[in-house]
Amino acid sequence: MTASQPKRVLYLVVCAAPPAQAISELVELLHEQGCAVCVIATPRATTWIDDSALAEQTGYPVRHDYKRPDDPDVLPPADAIAVVPATFNTINKWVAGISDTFALGLLNEAIGLELPIVVAPYAKPPLAAHPVFERNLRTLSDWGVTVLPNEAIRPQRIELPFNWQPISELF
Ligand SMILES: Cc1cc2nc3c(=O)[nH]c(=O)nc-3n(C[C@H](O)[C@H](O)[C@H](O)COP(=O)(O)O)c2cc1C
Repeated sequence: MTASQPKRVLYLVVCAAPPAQAISELVELLHEQGCAVCVIATPRATTWIDDSALAEQTGYPVRHDYKRPDDPDVLPPADAIAVVPATFNTINKWVAGISDTFALGLLNEAIGLELPIVVAPYAKPPLAAHPVFERNLRTLSDWGVTVLPNEAIRPQRIELPFNWQPISELF
């Protein structure tokens, strides 16, 4: 990408699971790929991330709640969305069409808008074995969402960093 080309705007939706704590590493890789990144956290995930550090890193405020009717839009429109990590909870609510968090509202609209979406599910084995989870991942895939294998970003060993490459290489 040259300096004159507008950057692709990626909305990075962050849910409340351990990779959220290291999400600035993924932001850095996505910047290197030429994306402008806007972080949208679920309300639960706000306790796992550093809002002000991410705002400084991305140049955009971290959104976690719906704006009031008269508030301006503070983020540019998205060209694509990545949901990393995507929790059991948010995946299941998303497929059910529930919009009770700003993140879910965006994700539900993105399906209707047919925006490119990548999801990195992150659910431990007992949750991943729940029959609705597998079915909902298949549904997302049927809707055109790129669904990575569950826990694709989990490191091979606990002391290693998260494996962000399966996401960053898609942008
Ligand atoms: C220490 C801890 C670790 C968790 N790890 C996961 C996880 O790996 N995957 C997951 O789906 N939920 C995990 N949860 C549960 C979610 O945080 C919880 O379901 C939450 O309601 C998800 O909210 P959200 O989907 O709105 O982000 C964890 C919770 C805690 C306290």
